[in-house]
Amino acid sequence: MPRRTPGPRSPRVFDRIVEGDAIAVLDSVPEASVHLAITSPPYNLRLPYRGYTDDRPHDEYLAWLGDVWRALYRVLVPGGRFVLNVAPTSIKNFRPIHHDLSTDLRRLGYIMRTEIIWYKQTMGRRTAWGSWRSPSNPHIVPSWEYVLVFSKEQWKLPGDPTAVDIAAKEFETFSDGFWAIPPERRRAGHPAPFPEALIERLVKFYSYRGNVVIDMFGGTGTVAAVARRLGRHYLHIDSSSEYCRQAFERTRAARPPAEAPIPPPVLAVLAGAAGPGPLAAPVD
Ligand SMILES: C[S@@+](CC[C@H](N)C(=O)[O-])C[C@H]1O[C@@H](n2cnc3c(N)ncnc32)[C@H](O)[C@@H]1O
Repeated sequence: MPRRTPGPRSPRVFDRIVEGDAIAVLDSVPEASVHLAITSPPYNLRLPYRGYTDDRPHDEYLAWLGDVWRALYRVLVPGGRFVLNVAPTSIKNFRPIHHDLSTDLRRLGYIMRTEIIWYKQTMGRRTAWGSWRSPSNPHIVPSWEYVLVFSKEQWKLPGDPTAVDIAAKEFETFSDGFWAIPPERRRAGHPAPFPEALIERLVKFYSYRGNVVIDMFGGTGTVAAVARRLGRHYLHIDSSSEYCRQAFERTRAARPPAEAPIPPPVLAVLAGAAGPGPLAAPVD
């Protein structure tokens, strides 16, 4: 018998779109129940998110994210993966936060598996050359983002070999760590949504069908919608009710494969905004 990784243990926890704070909601998730987390946190770049101020002192920002990574570690299964998308900061105020974050995560005990370069092919729209044709002060334009991949405790994720859904050609393409994928153009009022193609690759490469995939800074719900469409259970967390509503509609519209009929989402808010608590009754 192939070994099975644990599935979702409670219908009240997974296949949900939850409005709440990332740490508080993670604290309400059962230990060792998540196979893959994919997220892109606020980068502290003063982006105009609804209901969140993206401008904290750097140390406070890193300490807060450290608390999120700690809360995530508890809920990952052994061998569970954490995929962290980080964009380079602005040209003139370049801060290598991907180095800070990977150092912090390794300090917390995560195994760093790899770094994928997501090449966004955005050079056509460049406007900032710095000192044009002069070494005086030329600028490199960040036409890429980092996709940093970590594991909990071990490299291998146990799973059912019959629940593998990646084709040979896809495996060959995805295992080359330079991924040329255009950024998402349909922003739907959000400053930084993931392109679905990026998430499809990560979900198929790093998880089995039937696994649990989460995003604790879920925005417009790209991870939840793609996870459902690919036959994975999902949990979407975001502090904005408006983004959660969008994520709910989007995930509800996603069609799961016949062999993995993942249920449509329930929309919920976490009771007690300030701290851990039980998930409130669904609002829909
Ligand atoms: C970079 S965006 C994620 C975008 C997402 N990848 C997508 O495809 O739409 C970061 C998100 O974190 C949310 N956020 C900020 N603080 C939060 C917190 N404490 N808990 C949960 N979500 C939070 C913001 O509302 C924002 O949607």
